[in-house]
Amino acid sequence: MKLKTGDGSETLYSEEYSEYYHSKSGAVQESVEKYVKPCKIIELAKKGFISILDIGFGLGYNAIAAIDMAKKANPKVEIEILSFEKDLQLEKLKDLKNGLKNYDIIKKLEYDPITKSYHYEDSNIFLRIKIGDATKLIKSVPKKFDAVFQDAFSPSKNPELWTKEYFTNISKLMKKNAILATYSYARKVRENLALAGLEVYDGPIIGRRSPSTLARKI
Ligand SMILES: C[S@@+](CC[C@H](N)C(=O)[O-])C[C@H]1O[C@@H](n2cnc3c(N)ncnc32)[C@H](O)[C@@H]1O
Repeated sequence: MKLKTGDGSETLYSEEYSEYYHSKSGAVQESVEKYVKPCKIIELAKKGFISILDIGFGLGYNAIAAIDMAKKANPKVEIEILSFEKDLQLEKLKDLKNGLKNYDIIKKLEYDPITKSYHYEDSNIFLRIKIGDATKLIKSVPKKFDAVFQDAFSPSKNPELWTKEYFTNISKLMKKNAILATYSYARKVRENLALAGLEVYDGPIIGRRSPSTLARKI
């Protein structure tokens, strides 16, 4: 089921989780304002290289919005994105209207059955979407990232992606000063981020009364 959100971009409804993939106030706006800007993707792009860990690729809005904004800030930037997604619904994504400039990447993804992942690569971008449970996949990642987009469904519906143990494993994959961004404002989520050793602070207030959450690796 498709929904046109407040900024004109379309999102989908997940029957499995009984939730929309994005905020009804604006799907792409949410990606830009709650993830790309707070994670300082534009500033990182100007330095020439960015690596992003993208939890819950979903419709790919966070990942592609990051590519759009990074390339706009620096056309020569190198962007490496590692996404985890347990259920990539590629066919449903192909005709979504969202205004994202680089969304065509979705149509160019190639599947590798050996690594169980989708890839897209060009001279600027290296995107890999690993299919499986992020709680397991994060345990065998051999590198660290500048930014983490933590975008699971809500803690009550998708609890495994909000625990202290999970955030501790994520924290190990963050470079010093890397920022994790999430839309959630839940007290328990913030507690678990802090217990994982991250410095937790308010993100922007977009489309509702409470702020989102940011967590920095110290
Ligand atoms: C809110 S949506 C993400 C939206 C996405 N970031 C975007 O920009 O379009 C959450 C995603 O997390 C995925 N997911 C839920 N639990 C997961 C898990 N344990 N491992 C990997 N992906 C998971 C869901 O399938 C869903 O696509």
